[in-house]
Amino acid sequence: MTPEDFADIVADAALSPTVHNVQPTLWRRIDAGTVAVLQAEGRTLPVGDPTGRDVAASHGSAVEGFLIAAGARGLAFVAEAGEDGEIARLRATGSASPDPLAPVLRTRRTWRGKFAESPAPGVLETLTATAPDLTVLSEADDIAAVAALNDVASLKGFRDHGFRRELLAWMRLSRGHPLWAVDGLNAEAMGMSGMEAFGAGIVLRPRVFETLDRLGMAGALTGEAAVVRSAAAVALFHRPADEPPFDTGRRWHRVWLEMARLGLSAAPMTVLADDPEAEAALAMRFGRPAGTRLVTVFRLGLPIGDLPAPARRSVDDLIV
Ligand SMILES: Cc1cc2nc3c(=O)[nH]c(=O)nc-3n(C[C@H](O)[C@H](O)[C@H](O)COP(=O)(O)O)c2cc1C
Repeated sequence: MTPEDFADIVADAALSPTVHNVQPTLWRRIDAGTVAVLQAEGRTLPVGDPTGRDVAASHGSAVEGFLIAAGARGLAFVAEAGEDGEIARLRATGSASPDPLAPVLRTRRTWRGKFAESPAPGVLETLTATAPDLTVLSEADDIAAVAALNDVASLKGFRDHGFRRELLAWMRLSRGHPLWAVDGLNAEAMGMSGMEAFGAGIVLRPRVFETLDRLGMAGALTGEAAVVRSAAAVALFHRPADEPPFDTGRRWHRVWLEMARLGLSAAPMTVLADDPEAEAALAMRFGRPAGTRLVTVFRLGLPIGDLPAPARRSVDDLIV
């Protein structure tokens, strides 16, 4: 792997999904066959992700992206334990044949807007068959139940002032924001119009949010049930309870790419897994395979309109 190959692979890996688009992963080419994977300083979520589980999953997601991108260039790598202070080490093992998911690595995107009519017949069944760790639910009642739980759990999260402050710090609510195209969640990615984004910036402020909440208006402003209900399906993503989050993140990226390969767009609703009451309600209604934990719940379908442009750090900043 030449330095030029390495830069190209990192550029593709950078398009991997990461929590809040914090892009926590840095890459160091040790030699032609060895890459160190490192944590970028400050790119964690101490309030929203106090145990670091989502950031670890994000590293796994980025590493999976790296392996797929390398494979597309004929280079096989494996991920191994990192040395002191490293997240992981990637080691070249020879030549690879391209991963079938490679063609969608650059085009997969989170879609947070409404969905169009249902996908082609058979697509959801194919997804179920290819991803046994997804429980795909397409009955309107089931989707509505998930939508309602998501709104309740989200509002609970928003009531935490520290969580709101951290989220706001990663939001880029106007195109004038210097990091609009770089990282975090911009208004376009969140499916917000300019006016909605402007409003969100006000609503999420301390005191404003509490006042609206006392008036019973906060739920209507943070809720997204109508969007969730428009989904063709929701998919519960269960993984072994003892699986390291890094490995879960690798698989997370792959199941998302499977959806993209089938022409489906998705958005995770991780609060449904993080909120114990929502998680319990989902387990009660839909079951939870023995020995697994719920990682996230995707809503999915066909997007109405164009997928947002990716906001990403430059390769020069990602290679150290
Ligand atoms: C561990 C993890 C958790 C995530 N949780 C959520 C979530 O709860 N809600 C959401 O809208 N997106 C969630 N996402 C999606 C990211 O916000 C998204 O991947 C990131 O902003 C990059 O955008 P892209 O997917 O369009 O490339 C999550 C992603 C990861 C890897």
